Amino acid sequence: MTVQFSPLESYRDTFSFRNSAFAIERFPFPFIEDSYMYSVNIEPARAKESGSVYQHWFDIDEHYRSEMAERALVLDKDPSRYLVMPHMQEAAWDALQMFMEHLSADYPQWFELSCNGDRWHWRNKALDIDQVFSFGDASTLPCEPLEFITRQVQGDIALLDQRDGDLFMDAGMVTNPADWSLAFDAGMSFKQWHSPVPMANQMGIFERALKHLLNIQVDQPVRRLNWTLTINPRLDSSSETFHEWGAERGSVTADNVGQLVHLRVELQFMARLPRSNGLMFSIRTYLISMNELVSHPGWGCRLHRVLRDLPDPIADYKGMTRYRQTLVEWLSRFDTQS
Ligand code: HEM
Repeated sequence: MTVQFSPLESYRDTFSFRNSAFAIERFPFPFIEDSYMYSVNIEPARAKESGSVYQHWFDIDEHYRSEMAERALVLDKDPSRYLVMPHMQEAAWDALQMFMEHLSADYPQWFELSCNGDRWHWRNKALDIDQVFSFGDASTLPCEPLEFITRQVQGDIALLDQRDGDLFMDAGMVTNPADWSLAFDAGMSFKQWHSPVPMANQMGIFERALKHLLNIQVDQPVRRLNWTLTINPRLDSSSETFHEWGAERGSVTADNVGQLVHLRVELQFMARLPRSNGLMFSIRTYLISMNELVSHPGWGCRLHRVLRDLPDPIADYKGMTRYRQTLVEWLSRFDTQS
């Protein structure tokens, strides 16, 4: 299937981001029942139907060019969204190879890779990049290898170092996190960076999830969905920019809720990096406005029930407490039993 790109859209200021009918159809709606609770929702990342977000390891969609332009804007203002500790160099090259091999195999109309020993030739026709370089020699690239490739891949990336039976957030490119910060979490262990999450630790979720992740084998990646809500189609809702977006939570009214509130779904993908034995964690974020969401039969009704019954600590953690009531009331008109 050939991906067609939308004209450049904005994830800030004018918020011109919109989903096509096709993007709505393939949106990874995360709720499999009428209620939601944290769980160890990890599954093997096997390819699903053609055209779905699960077809390839790294999903490229109509928003590709816009999202890459947004990443460049964020990095211009704040280079600390990118980080590679010295011991993660090999993992960075591993990641570059994984992205280049999969993107060129899965989207040959946009990406091409040819390798002659260590002499590699990469072409990204979507962003007009043509680069010959020596694999393993950063001086032959315009910037460091992880930065070079993650400026060309949708979604945030963390590279975890695996040691002492734990994972450590020692590298990454994180320009669109849902209210967290790579600079703050840098060097933390799996349990440490998850410590703000309510309820899950007491349920033993992180202990079981970590066991799974430590055992991921090469070429046997896993995935899971996570979700939250965001006001406006704002990709960069990081802790660093909280002063720019936090107050928007107070601006939701019965009249603007359909346009302002967005469901934000993260398709998280975890793969073993073969040489370094690190772990790649990619967070591919999909945004959909409430108006777009309720155009799909059944989704408005289900989301109404999920948000109505969501435990308060989780709603609070996800930052929706100020506008939850307004949203639930608005969604109730799509619930057949309301
Ligand atoms: C190595 C892979 C992973 C990384 C790098 C990662 C990273 C994070 C980060 C940075 C947060 C935000 C914490 C904060 O508020 O500051 C988070 C939240 C969370 N993580 Fe993970 N995580 C990983 C794997 C997992 C797995 C396998 C699970 C499985 C259950 C999980 C479950 C959660 C949950 C439930 C939340 C709260 C999300 C919400 O309610 O919006 N994580 N994770």
